[in-house]
Amino acid sequence: MRDTVMITGGAGFIGSNFVRRWMAKESSRVVVLDDLTYAGIKQNLSEFNAAPRFRFVKGDINDEGLVARLFEVEQPKAILHFAAESHVDRSVASPGEFIRTNIHGTFNLLQCARTYVAAQGASGHEFRFLHVSTDEVYGSLGPDDAAFSEITPYTPNSPYSASKAASDHLVRAYHHTYGLPTLVTNCSNNYGPFQFPEKLIPLMILNALNGKPLPVYGDGLNVRDWLYVTDHCDAIIAVLAKGKIGETYNVGGNSEMSNIVVVKTVCALLDELAPMKDGREHASLISYVKDRPGHDRRYAIDAGKIRRELGWEPNETFTSGIRKTVEWYLGNPKWIELVRSGEYKQWVAQQYAGTHQA
Ligand code: NAD
Ligand code: DAU
Repeated sequence: MRDTVMITGGAGFIGSNFVRRWMAKESSRVVVLDDLTYAGIKQNLSEFNAAPRFRFVKGDINDEGLVARLFEVEQPKAILHFAAESHVDRSVASPGEFIRTNIHGTFNLLQCARTYVAAQGASGHEFRFLHVSTDEVYGSLGPDDAAFSEITPYTPNSPYSASKAASDHLVRAYHHTYGLPTLVTNCSNNYGPFQFPEKLIPLMILNALNGKPLPVYGDGLNVRDWLYVTDHCDAIIAVLAKGKIGETYNVGGNSEMSNIVVVKTVCALLDELAPMKDGREHASLISYVKDRPGHDRRYAIDAGKIRRELGWEPNETFTSGIRKTVEWYLGNPKWIELVRSGEYKQWVAQQYAGTHQA
């Protein structure tokens, strides 16, 4: 095995932040495997194009031949598996791709990793398969329920969370049955630079900047736990370095908030940093729209295990992280132009048809 890590989905939101973090903090070579779907933006990684210890491979995690060859040629010491279809609303509209990538794609990576590890002989136990997953697999909480822990039963409610739950189970089974050295992380809602503007926070920032309605689903009182993306990346680095094989680690931001509070916070920051020309407050653009089908009411994470066992805690508060995020979107109009291409426009038109368009 070489001092190389393979990163699937490295051109997406969390994956590209992870590559940046890894290249800054670690010395290993990085091989990104990404199929550049609508959410994979090659330019997110352009600063590494000329870096000798960086390689980008465009390809599908379902491609058996390609994945097996990459293991053989690159001899990685770990695979960090971020690649997924990640947007809940898209999974409601068209679940098929979620089954293909999240379940079958993970299965293919596990199979190839298993063959690769077997070929390593005695040193195979040094390999790590780190699977990046979500808190959504645990289902929905009531207002007074205890936060999700690593032993909370799985109760996924959307095609997205069901596909992620299935992939988590496959990872668990490959450890239990074949002894594959696996690690799983289940994280809460991320936000920060490079997030595709279909997700709540960047969608609200971009709509507000364009004077468009801010579509809040249902009563706006659904609760999420928000974590700044680089804190998630640091948690993954800690789990890879010190996590116990076969274990799961929940990762969260200690930052539970209703959607309407999140949206109003974004609006207040924009009032300060990019006031509307007509003097109105951005919050005047808030518009309550039809709810998401099967919309989970509340997520909350108990991150006690990763704090106690690996010493990880978030560095950013929501106050510091959301300011950085808004400032990043204000400072990167070219990136926004790039991602708001034809496909993005089509999705927004379809998703918010009859309500409002971004
Ligand atoms: P994203 O949608 O921004 O990026 C996904 C990346 O995967 C893209 O670069 C895309 O091109 C790539 N990809 C998709 N299908 C592929 C395929 N078949 N083969 C190769 N590459 C493919 O997603 P994200 O928000 O960065 O999430 C990354 C991971 O973290 C996902 O597994 C997601 O479930 C998990 N997660 C996300 C959050 C969050 O708040 N965004 C929270 C917890 C966990
Ligand atoms: O909890 C982790 C998960 O967080 C990740 O696994 C997913 O990949 C990620 O997309 C995210 O899922 P959510 O469904 O929570 O994120 P989203 O940004 O789509 O929505 C956040 C909340 O905001 C949710 O309650 C729905 C609501 N919302 C979303 C959009 C896009 C709105 O009210 N209006 C909107 O237009």
